[in-house]
Amino acid sequence: MSSELIEGYGTVTIVSVSDDHPRPESPSRWGDWGDMDPAAKDIGLERWIIELTANGQTHVVGDLSAHSVWYGPTTGSRAINIGISLVEEFRGRRMGGVAQRLLAELLHDRGIVRVEASTDVENIAEQRALERAGFAYEGTLRLAQGRRDGLHDLQVWAHVRPPVSDPS
Ligand SMILES: CC(C)(COP(=O)(O)OP(=O)(O)OC[C@H]1O[C@@H](n2cnc3c(N)ncnc32)[C@H](O)[C@@H]1OP(=O)(O)O)[C@@H](O)C(=O)NCCC(=O)NCCS
Repeated sequence: MSSELIEGYGTVTIVSVSDDHPRPESPSRWGDWGDMDPAAKDIGLERWIIELTANGQTHVVGDLSAHSVWYGPTTGSRAINIGISLVEEFRGRRMGGVAQRLLAELLHDRGIVRVEASTDVENIAEQRALERAGFAYEGTLRLAQGRRDGLHDLQVWAHVRPPVSDPS
């Protein structure tokens, strides 16, 4: 469990949950997928919920997910791609950046060097949140994501913690 206080709002905590844990309602134009591909069920999604605790009350304010992306058949070729969705009334309060940074740090602590996030080229709010979380923009993936209304270009961002070299 990882937490961070946001002055004036409360403490944001990310809590690991099982794949079948209920998702908080957080519709957006970026999540209108259309028909799912059954093969996508096998991507090995890991999930967390985002909680906000303030004045002794805890609210579930969003949802994070992560799955592996392999750039080769070695441990050093494994990146993790993360995704986020906040409940509408909790957007615009800087929690998206905090939650994604907490998740990136948690994954680095497990030994993952490269944590990625991909977002629609038009999703300015997520781009700002990623920048604030310490991710760096790396480039644009053309026609990478199919949603109900067609194919979309995605920006790819990364949060990288290089391995500590062994002094011996
Ligand atoms: C994207 C999301 C995670 C960002 O988290 P957040 O806590 O709302 O982010 P912030 O409060 O830090 O706001 C990010 C910035 O975007 C700005 N912003 C918000 N909506 C915007 C819009 N439609 N156009 C331009 N800027 C926008 C905010 O004002 C803020 O600007 P600032 O950096 O200059 O202060 C959250 O808004 C969300 O869940 N949105 C819906 C689902 C989604 O888009 N998920 C990501 C899919 S890849």
